[in-house]
Amino acid sequence: MKRLGILLSGRGSNFEAIAQNVLSGRLQCEIGFVFSNKPEAPGLARARELGFACGCIPSAGLDRTAFDLQVIDLLKQHGIDWVCLAGYMRFLSGGFVSQFQGRILNIHPSLLPAFPGLDAQHQALTHGVKVTGCTVHFVDENLDSGPILLQAAVPVLDDDTVERLSARILLEEHRIYSEAIAWVLQGNYRIEGRRVIRT
Ligand code: GAR
Repeated sequence: MKRLGILLSGRGSNFEAIAQNVLSGRLQCEIGFVFSNKPEAPGLARARELGFACGCIPSAGLDRTAFDLQVIDLLKQHGIDWVCLAGYMRFLSGGFVSQFQGRILNIHPSLLPAFPGLDAQHQALTHGVKVTGCTVHFVDENLDSGPILLQAAVPVLDDDTVERLSARILLEEHRIYSEAIAWVLQGNYRIEGRRVIRT
């Protein structure tokens, strides 16, 4: 069974959705390690409650490359094959990306390449788009970049607030992240340029 490492910085609802799919057997893999750069992250507490191996190194004030080397070390110690970023609010160093080349996924709450970076739902509302959504993509050295695996569209309603829009996007995030993980673990894809193609 392939072993996932989940990296999170906050609430951890994407982690929990993946965990429920793993625990129920809908997703055929193991969660080998849950890591947070924030000791107070609710997602980390939840991972401990669920009995997963967990680790935390506070990132504040640490050099990115040195910090990432420690995280890589922990992931290797736990035999991690694939890394899933689930609300991990840190930019990965080139060293990290090359250690897990082609085996790092991220979920982002917009239809990339629109609205990368922070507060994507707020960006979508203020820009006035009528449709936004979420994206699961491979991670490369650039921010919210990398070939796209799956996207789901979510309409923006006239009376939306950031909270309401975020909540509807989140439902889709929880669905497509596990779907994308199942797909890559089966290995039925090839990457041509930026396109991820089912095989
Ligand atoms: C999610 O909406 C995720 O898409 C977003 O952070 C939230 C984490 O929620 N990630 C990014 O914005 C990455 N650029 P969660 O902690 O409940 O999974």
